Order: sequence, then C-alpha cells, then structure tokens
Amino acid sequence: MKSLVIYYSRTGNTKFVAEEITAELGAYIEEIVDLKSREGRPGWLSATRDGTGNRQTNIAETKRNPTNYDLIVVGTPVWAGVRARR
Ligand SMILES: Cc1cc2nc3c(=O)[nH]c(=O)nc-3n(C[C@H](O)[C@H](O)[C@H](O)COP(=O)(O)O)c2cc1C
Repeated sequence: MKSLVIYYSRTGNTKFVAEEITAELGAYIEEIVDLKSREGRPGWLSATRDGTGNRQTNIAETKRNPTNYDLIVVGTPVWAGVRARR
C-alpha cells in the first residue's frame, strides 16, 4: 500500500509526529508551506486572527499528487479550535 503523510507545522510538533508516522508506515511525506509568515509574535498574532476568523491562506505548490496514494494521513496543529483536556 502506498501511503502519503501531508502536514503543516508552525513550531515543529506536527512535523515530529508526521515524521514518526512516515517512518512507521514507510510512507512518502509532503510538507504544506504557508506563504504567509507565521514566525515569532507577529506570526502567532496572525495565526490567532486567521484561526479565530476561520480565514484561509495561500500555500506553496505541492509536489505530490494525493490521487496517486492509497492512504493519506493529514496532520495539522489546532488553532483556536478545541481546548486541550487537562
Ligand atoms: C494561534 C494558535 C492557536 C492555538 N489554539 C489552540 C487550541 O484552540 N487548542 C489547543 O489545544 N491548542 C491550540 N494551539 C496550540 C497548538 O495547536 C500546539 O502548540 C501544536 O502542538 C502546535 O503544533 P506545531 O508545532 O506543529 O505548529 C494553538 C496555537 C496557536 C499558534
């Protein structure tokens, strides 16, 4: 089975998990690149604004075509969505 892990990660947590899953599955991997800078405090503020406003962003062109894979795993951080349980 041909698998593809697609992920977006602002600070590396999702990237770490995506790479673990990729290794475990023997999958291919594709990073989603946000064309809007999300670095530092300004990036965090824009992420908050866009997350709470449910706004879309533009992403860099992807290299892989998902239709060529049997299994797609998508990983993203949660932005202003579900509160983590403590
Ligand atoms: C703008 C913003 C909003 C966030 N909102 C939530 C949230 O609502 N619930 C939550 O559990 N985590 C929230 N987080 C925390 C991230 O989901 C968490 O730190 C995640 O591991 C980051 O993944 P990354 O390192 O791949 O970017 C938020 C983070 C940011 C930057």
